[in-house]
Amino acid sequence: MAGIYIHIPFCKKLCYYCDFYHVVSVNDNSAFIDALLKEASLRKDYLKSETISTIYLGGGTPSVFSIKDLGTILNHIRKLFKIAEDCEITIELNPDDVQSAYLKGLKYNQINRISLGIQSWRDSDLKMLNRRHDSAQGIIALNETLNAGFENVSIDLIYGIPGMSLKDWESNLDFSFSFDIKHMSAYHLTFEPGTVFGKMLEKGTISEIDENESAAQFNHLIEKAESAGFIQYEISNFGKLSYFSIHNSNYWKQVSYLGLGPSAHSFNGYSRQWNIRDLKGYVKFVNAGKPFFESEELDTKKRFNEYIITSLRTMWGIDLEYVEGMFEKEGYDYVVNLAEKFRNYGLMKLEKKSLVLTNQGKLISDNIISEFMMPGDE
Ligand SMILES: C[S@@+](CC[C@H](N)C(=O)[O-])C[C@H]1O[C@@H](n2cnc3c(N)ncnc32)[C@H](O)[C@@H]1O
Ligand code: SF4
Repeated sequence: MAGIYIHIPFCKKLCYYCDFYHVVSVNDNSAFIDALLKEASLRKDYLKSETISTIYLGGGTPSVFSIKDLGTILNHIRKLFKIAEDCEITIELNPDDVQSAYLKGLKYNQINRISLGIQSWRDSDLKMLNRRHDSAQGIIALNETLNAGFENVSIDLIYGIPGMSLKDWESNLDFSFSFDIKHMSAYHLTFEPGTVFGKMLEKGTISEIDENESAAQFNHLIEKAESAGFIQYEISNFGKLSYFSIHNSNYWKQVSYLGLGPSAHSFNGYSRQWNIRDLKGYVKFVNAGKPFFESEELDTKKRFNEYIITSLRTMWGIDLEYVEGMFEKEGYDYVVNLAEKFRNYGLMKLEKKSLVLTNQGKLISDNIISEFMMPGDE
């Protein structure tokens, strides 16, 4: 089983926090679509005829594309690859693009999972983030999506936004759980270098929220999501039972995937590839049949570090049997010895034969992960 990620790099407006590769334009996309189809044909053997169990249309904003264009892309993929009958096909939608005719078109193209970029239900947050939609549009979009009969609906939320109090965040969560959503991705706002917020932080015209407030918002997220019936299967991802994102879970379980479009990444167990982060260059190079991606072979250290980065953030944690099988006694001893200190501090625990983070540990997951990194992987 393998996955396909398709990056649609267009946005109508720039969100101040966003570092995902995108260009602010909705002009003629035909040159991009031609290049994307060509890339898929050129790279169809990367996954070695594995059956495709997930397809993910992400961005940027896939919902700036017409149903016809999305259909062209998906039909081309269906022709090139063996697609599982129960393939999870996700699309990211921006709330102000959601209309009932559009939703029908998505269904017609067998898209069966919707990820809606709500971010917040508070107009002041949405304004601050420079989102295109307001909270009323968010409510209409979510209701329309559910009424259109999509069963597997996820929303994205952001917390830790300057000006958002613990009470505001709690109300955002309560309001979210009043809808029949099956999944939620909740991210702490990060100030990425080069973004508008990143630059404002550098200049001192905005500041990050206080560490204690941050921790309180994270703890409330875990508690509230759990009492609403969601399982935190990854630090930022919460799903009802049987509704975890198969696509994202595959990233964390070392399943192979092919990424198409500018900036998209691919992985097949032994190598990692990343496409250039430049739309014009991407189109030009694909059409000229020139290399449009960089790649690296993963040696044992790199594969070990990748495994730790992807597994430790999940509820499945570091599988010690897997570590012993893949990285032999040396890898196993390294992990077990290092974990002892974190277990003594109550930051990690042993569950069956896996090492998982406790809620305390999740708060400082990045620090713990960096301590596990094997040196020499530059
Ligand atoms: C590819 S992006 C967005 C998809 C879609 N274009 C949208 O805006 O709704 C996926 C999600 O990552 C989250 N995200 C992106 N940048 C972030 C940041 N700097 N801090 C926190 N969350 C971020 C947002 O919740 C966003 O919806
Ligand atoms: S958050 Fe979504 S809509 Fe906003 S700039 Fe990023 S990709 Fe585009």
